[in-house]
Amino acid sequence: MLPTSMPTATPNNSTSISGSFGSDYQSLPHTPGLPPLFWPCVGEHPVYDGNLYNFLSADEMRNDLYRSGIGDTVAGKIVVDIGTGDQAHWAIECIRAGAKKAYAIEQNPKAAALAQELVSKLGLADRITVLVGRSTEINLPELADVCISEILGEIGSAEGAITTLNDAKNRLMKTGGEFLPERCNTFIAPVQLPTELITSPTFDPDALPYLNHIFAAARRPFDVRVSISNLGNSYKLPSIPTTFESLNFSGQIEQNSIHGHTFVISDTAELHGFLLWLSIECRIGAGQLDTLLHKTNWFPVFFPVWPNSLPVTEGDSIECAFSRHLSDDGMHPNYAIEGIVRSRAGNEQNFMWKSDHHSSTFLASDFYKELFA
Ligand SMILES: C[S@@+](CC[C@H](N)C(=O)[O-])C[C@H]1O[C@@H](n2cnc3c(N)ncnc32)[C@H](O)[C@@H]1O
Repeated sequence: MLPTSMPTATPNNSTSISGSFGSDYQSLPHTPGLPPLFWPCVGEHPVYDGNLYNFLSADEMRNDLYRSGIGDTVAGKIVVDIGTGDQAHWAIECIRAGAKKAYAIEQNPKAAALAQELVSKLGLADRITVLVGRSTEINLPELADVCISEILGEIGSAEGAITTLNDAKNRLMKTGGEFLPERCNTFIAPVQLPTELITSPTFDPDALPYLNHIFAAARRPFDVRVSISNLGNSYKLPSIPTTFESLNFSGQIEQNSIHGHTFVISDTAELHGFLLWLSIECRIGAGQLDTLLHKTNWFPVFFPVWPNSLPVTEGDSIECAFSRHLSDDGMHPNYAIEGIVRSRAGNEQNFMWKSDHHSSTFLASDFYKELFA
């Protein structure tokens, strides 16, 4: 469904969707009865509002993972919380866990003002300094021992974590400083989606205000990267998943990367594209979150390579090259998959899928024509 007016001039943060967001959260991602629907990948665009922050705050699986990572690692330490949001969550949790001082950086001025208000109200203003702006443009009065952040996209690097955390390592942290989360892997597999979802692809009505805001920020509509809410168990992965991207934040991470993999099909399926999801470890060895298996705010991403379906059967293979390149905004990556599907009978079919952060195309494939129809 196309948003009613697009693009709007300014994001309308007062759009009231909290009720439905609340019920959506209850349904994530395995509640039977609610249909899977498409969402734009919102986190990688400047569209955060109170509802999105509340949605994140309510993600107890995520919160538990972070708390287990914080554990006793921050006691007596200087912490920088990058992207503290409107509730300064991790800065506050770190101080409560014994950190000496926290610098809470937030680029969204409205959110930063709310975070400052909360910190003052809690009497923590002497321990937490809220700084407004992008971390890459901010200097700290002292270097941090620990960097905590929740800037992981539905593809790990999609929100700019590589640029941001490489910069933090080089400028804001002591040598050998620790990163929470420490590691994020994005997995990928060819997928068959439920027939209804792929033949009549529809945005969740709750997503439409965000779609409008994304297009307003880009000053044009485009074929936005999509994820799927309420996917439940209604999909089929006919081959073993592999790693699309592996980010270990304690080392310097290459901006651009390319690697290959061949999927071997072990079951008959009608493929529609690729599904991508995360495995996050806040501290290696202290538990991990799998966003396909667990109930979290990160939805699996869908690359609609074969919306009209590609039949495959046992013994077929898909040879792929996965690539990541920094986009022209210097922060967010573009991704691509190029490959060949080989049938056991010897037929070959080439394919190419580009998933740009702010794509220059609109209605460029059958999938997007249907989605925006
Ligand atoms: C997913 S939200 C997380 C909010 C909160 N920390 C939480 O965990 O609930 C990501 C936040 O990071 C902010 N952000 C992303 N990159 C940033 C950067 N380089 N510097 C400052 N803020 C950033 C965004 O504006 C957004 O508010």
